Amino acid sequence: MRVAMLTGGGDCPGLNAVMRAVVRKGERIHGDQMLGLRDGWRGAVQGDVVDLSVETFRGTLPRGGTILGSSRTNPYKVDGGPDAVRKTLADHDIDALVAIGGEDTLGVAARLADEGVAVVGVPKTIDNDLSATELTFGFDTAVQVCVDAIDRLHTTAESHDRVMVVEVMGRHAGHIATWAAIAGGATMVLVPEHPFDVDEVTRVIEHRHNERGRFASIVVVAEGATPVAGTLAVASAEVDAFGHARLGGIGDMLARAIEDRTGFETRAIVLGHVQRGGTPTAFDRVLATRFGIGAIDAVHDGAFGTMVALRAGDIVRVPLAEATSELKLVDPAVYDVASVFFG
Ligand code: F6P
Repeated sequence: MRVAMLTGGGDCPGLNAVMRAVVRKGERIHGDQMLGLRDGWRGAVQGDVVDLSVETFRGTLPRGGTILGSSRTNPYKVDGGPDAVRKTLADHDIDALVAIGGEDTLGVAARLADEGVAVVGVPKTIDNDLSATELTFGFDTAVQVCVDAIDRLHTTAESHDRVMVVEVMGRHAGHIATWAAIAGGATMVLVPEHPFDVDEVTRVIEHRHNERGRFASIVVVAEGATPVAGTLAVASAEVDAFGHARLGGIGDMLARAIEDRTGFETRAIVLGHVQRGGTPTAFDRVLATRFGIGAIDAVHDGAFGTMVALRAGDIVRVPLAEATSELKLVDPAVYDVASVFFG
């Protein structure tokens, strides 16, 4: 078969590991000819196609990012986009497509599958917010980056007796924030799932101060966390081709509010894209590799319109439509674990 792959949306550690696995099993076991579409759906729309082989992926297992490049191009927002994708596949005799991405990339894949394109999805996002899979690769690495940073922030916060507000990614779900807070021993975590009350945040920090005599605290705030309506002004954000707002800035606003209300010296740290860069953890390399093998197996079983997913430790196939139907939010039981350590 001639099998093409693309990586779309925000990059994430483990993308190369997925593709390496798809290519390895495709080429070596099935005798496939492997191809890549550059920069996600952009390459599919514009016919930007490259040959791939086992050789192409030598040395890429520990490498972050994606050697194919990525973009947030949405073919359904481009004039004649879906037809252009079909033409690219036909021009290059591509029998099947493996789309590796998050909600947006897989949403496009689901629509194309409904229209008859032979596509299999692989779930990717550091945000871990896809409901059809228990975990996405990249999430573990992002959490580890946050925890490494928080470990370092503890010592400088204590030395200077400061409050540190650490803003982390995650869009409209607080998985990264909650896991990082639990593993990093944070004083508090604020997530989109629970609008926060600034007065409650300052009460917790002041209580900690009164109890301990010093107030060094780490507050983890998810970029998508919002204050209870009317309690703190927040800026509006730009929107991308999939209609997503570019988030960020809540950490600064919160740090200022904490310092104003408590008088405690407070600093904001935005971890930003550091969370997405660099080498994947061993866990993410293994999950990504298992997903890649699952995807090429699905192609050869003709299981188009599905996505590979992790459920109860197994790699399974679920309908692509299911992958994007619902945002996976933080399990209240996990948030409760974090909240035991507030203050
Ligand atoms: O979806 C992954 C993610 O890293 C989000 O956590 C974040 O909000 C967004 O992408 C940032 O996007 P960009 O790379 O376009 O700034």
